[in-house]
Amino acid sequence: MKIGIPKERREYEKRVAAVPDTVRKYIGLGFDVTVETGAGEMAGFPDEEYREAGAVIAADATETLKDADLVLKVQRPMTPEDGGINEAALLKDGAVLVAMLQPTRDADAFADYARRNITCFAMELMPRITRAQSMDVLSSQSNLAGYRAVIEAAYEFNRGMPMMMTAAGTVAPARVFVFGAGVAGLQAIATAKRLGAVVSATDVRPAVKEQVESLAAKFIAPDIEESGEGEGGYAREMSDEYKRRQAEMISETMKKQDIAITTALIPGRRAPVLITREHIASMRPGSVIVDLAVEQGGNVEGSEIGKIVEVDGVKIIGHANMASRIATDASALYAKNLLNFLTPQMDKETGTLKWNWDDETVSGTALTRDGAVVHPILKNKGEG
Ligand code: NAI
Repeated sequence: MKIGIPKERREYEKRVAAVPDTVRKYIGLGFDVTVETGAGEMAGFPDEEYREAGAVIAADATETLKDADLVLKVQRPMTPEDGGINEAALLKDGAVLVAMLQPTRDADAFADYARRNITCFAMELMPRITRAQSMDVLSSQSNLAGYRAVIEAAYEFNRGMPMMMTAAGTVAPARVFVFGAGVAGLQAIATAKRLGAVVSATDVRPAVKEQVESLAAKFIAPDIEESGEGEGGYAREMSDEYKRRQAEMISETMKKQDIAITTALIPGRRAPVLITREHIASMRPGSVIVDLAVEQGGNVEGSEIGKIVEVDGVKIIGHANMASRIATDASALYAKNLLNFLTPQMDKETGTLKWNWDDETVSGTALTRDGAVVHPILKNKGEG
């Protein structure tokens, strides 16, 4: 069986779905691997390294995909609506596609894939069970995005992060406030602490208080007994009363902060708006906000995808695809997530895929199978 690794073509995307290390492993498992020329270039993996790992380098996407039985991608294939080349059309009928397919964003595409008997797996639907932690692309990428968000903030901030006592005077430490202490938020807290900032954080899930405090940061929450713990460890929408008290708490806290990093998400919904224009106006000029939720609608009023905007002297960073800004590590971890997902489904003897449909990492991520759309997230379109 042949695995195809095309170059990613979407805007802001520098990552690649296989790195030379994972290519070597697939070949060891009895598969042939074809990598499109330049696929790893933006992530720091030149063709030569793939060739040394045993891959064949193909001249373009058509060449890479035309006889690939298994296609590994980072982002969902481009369609004519996206402009550029029609990657979806290049996939072979009957192929298997593994990527972050964003099923709710492009739901109609999957009926098409099903018609062509293409089996699609959406990696972001990986169940959050202990056994699947090594396959969890949302965690591997969010962790790096949280790290990078702090680095971007530090770069745009015209003052220092740590306290520095010098002969010429003392530099005060920066005060950093993190919204949402999930995977990205906790890494943002840890990174800001390592840089010497004074860090506090908030979240709607009371369980994270301990995790925040274990990183020596302060946990701040509105004075109301309500848990935001939803299904699968994710958050849920809060009551109006909670939102009112939370807004008061944010007003009180924001005026004392230099940097805010927002990471708050609710699955299947628009990200909650947590920082308003008033909060921004209450910050000192020169302060910096990073909105990691910008692609899900944004936690910050006025943030714009792919831009740094300035409001009342405060910079609001809306970089799209933050994980891609640390493309080498992000690719290496994403590629390893895919390898960990696929290895148990690969039969070394025959060099073929043998899907175990009783395995919930398989059934939980499959969008299409045997010519039909099978995942509930697509069958109950609009609820996901
Ligand atoms: P996420 O990216 O969906 O959300 C980020 C954070 O924002 C969450 O902590 C959420 O509670 C918070 N949030 C949502 N609305 C908010 C609001 N209005 N105000 C303040 N904060 C708000 O979540 P993420 O980071 O993907 O994971 C959440 C949790 O899932 C983790 O903390 C962990 O406990 C669990 N998890 C479990 C895994 C496993 O067992 N395999 C793997 C990864 C995460």
